[in-house]
Amino acid sequence: MSNPLRDARDRRLNRIAGPGALVFFGITGDLARKKLMPAVYDLASRGLLPPNFAIVGFGRRDWSAEDFAAQAREWILASSRTPFNETVFTQLASGMRFISGAFDDDAAYEQLSATLDELAETRSTGRNHAFYLSIPPSWFDVVCEKLSEHKLANDANPGWERVVIEKPFGHDLASARELNAIVESVFPPDSVFRIDHYLGKETVQNLLALRFGNQMFEPLWNNKYVDHVQITMAEDIGIGGRASYYDGVGAARDVIQNHLLQLLALTAMEEPISFNADHLRSEKEKVLAAVQLPEDLGAASARGQYTSGWQGGEEVVGFLDEEGFNPKSKTETYAAVRLNINTRRWSGVPFYLRAGKRLGRRVTEIAVVFKKAPNLLFTDHKDDEFGQNAFVIRVQPDEGATIRFSSKVPGTQMEIRDVTMDFGYGNAFTESSPEAYERLILDVLLGEPPLFPRHEEVEQSWRILDPFEEYWAALPTQPEPYAPGSWGPASSDELMAKDGRTWRRP
Ligand code: BG6
Repeated sequence: MSNPLRDARDRRLNRIAGPGALVFFGITGDLARKKLMPAVYDLASRGLLPPNFAIVGFGRRDWSAEDFAAQAREWILASSRTPFNETVFTQLASGMRFISGAFDDDAAYEQLSATLDELAETRSTGRNHAFYLSIPPSWFDVVCEKLSEHKLANDANPGWERVVIEKPFGHDLASARELNAIVESVFPPDSVFRIDHYLGKETVQNLLALRFGNQMFEPLWNNKYVDHVQITMAEDIGIGGRASYYDGVGAARDVIQNHLLQLLALTAMEEPISFNADHLRSEKEKVLAAVQLPEDLGAASARGQYTSGWQGGEEVVGFLDEEGFNPKSKTETYAAVRLNINTRRWSGVPFYLRAGKRLGRRVTEIAVVFKKAPNLLFTDHKDDEFGQNAFVIRVQPDEGATIRFSSKVPGTQMEIRDVTMDFGYGNAFTESSPEAYERLILDVLLGEPPLFPRHEEVEQSWRILDPFEEYWAALPTQPEPYAPGSWGPASSDELMAKDGRTWRRP
């Protein structure tokens, strides 16, 4: 049924995937259960997948196709965005198959090959295959090589083959290069889709719309008017249950190397000639390549580890007591860095990036903080933040944007105060945003790569992060403790204070 509240100007054409099969390696993992399978169901329930679409799970469990479908039903019921519809699910489940085996098991790949043949016959997939590697990166090379040996990554096939890889794309620049070389030796670069799920978020794409679809922001978007930029990714959750992934990785590798540097690139890049993948990605690459590392890495960074304490009325354990962690682990759960961008537009404007677990609340935002007017007539306010305009893009939650500016307080005297003007997605549009994975999986199936970082971007991001990681690794001390529910370690506030600035309290 159509939405009676839908804006009459909303004439979007639905983008619908063509026939194909999506093969999930690591189907029983957390990501596949909580995000990927529900996202595929949501696409199906929105009518964006063809009726004969096929899904193949590949994993160690000894499951039949029916067992797989029964599990998928539970995952979808628990986490899909759209209401469960039996007809949609039955249709989707009729195209589900399961291959039981280890990632290096030749017999399992033979079975996969036979299953894809069968699906080409029975579900007219056209031999279009997307291989989604939701597996530890140490297996990427094995799976790619096996797919190649079993002629499943073969340009000579009549359909298309694409490979989707999840972060982490390596552990540092050297390992990222190795990984890229392996993957791209099997799949041509334009068939490799690297997922950074932040790029699938509606508000992140809206950054492009705000910057390049309007006239009023861009003239101010430079070092003449901008004082600094703060990019924050705060989470209230801890690491519980993810020790095997997180220990030795830490906040900077986990999210700054990818999500936050992508946000920086979209905020700071020049206008692309078009939104075509090559144009967009080259602009991001250019600005990442212009990121200049501070000389004093210690003064330009901070890191912390959350302690035990109370958060949201609950007692929570400290990072070092979380199950599976080495009690002497030096892995950080909070990281902040200051970066400069060496371009005519941004020279002299610091970009501060921070990310942490168990912080005050879950919020991701980009705050562009402007310089004060050169001559402030309102003398009462000379020393505080008054008059420091800010444009804040709230990535999540409460997706939207806010502008802070000064206004007269009603009354008979000239009293001035800062106020905010708010745009909220929830108020402006009648439809909720799709989950990032819906958008990204659909793009993979349609073969549209603009939202997937190219390997040069990944390598540039490691070039930026590696020196900080090396600096931190050489420190004899543990990261600084901070209380759960706080806004990170004191050294992070000092990093800003040294520059005469403060972090926003989102
Ligand atoms: C992932 C990180 O990439 O993003 C996690 O590995 C983090 O540590 C997650 O919790 C956050 O994603 P979102 O979409 O909830 O902001």
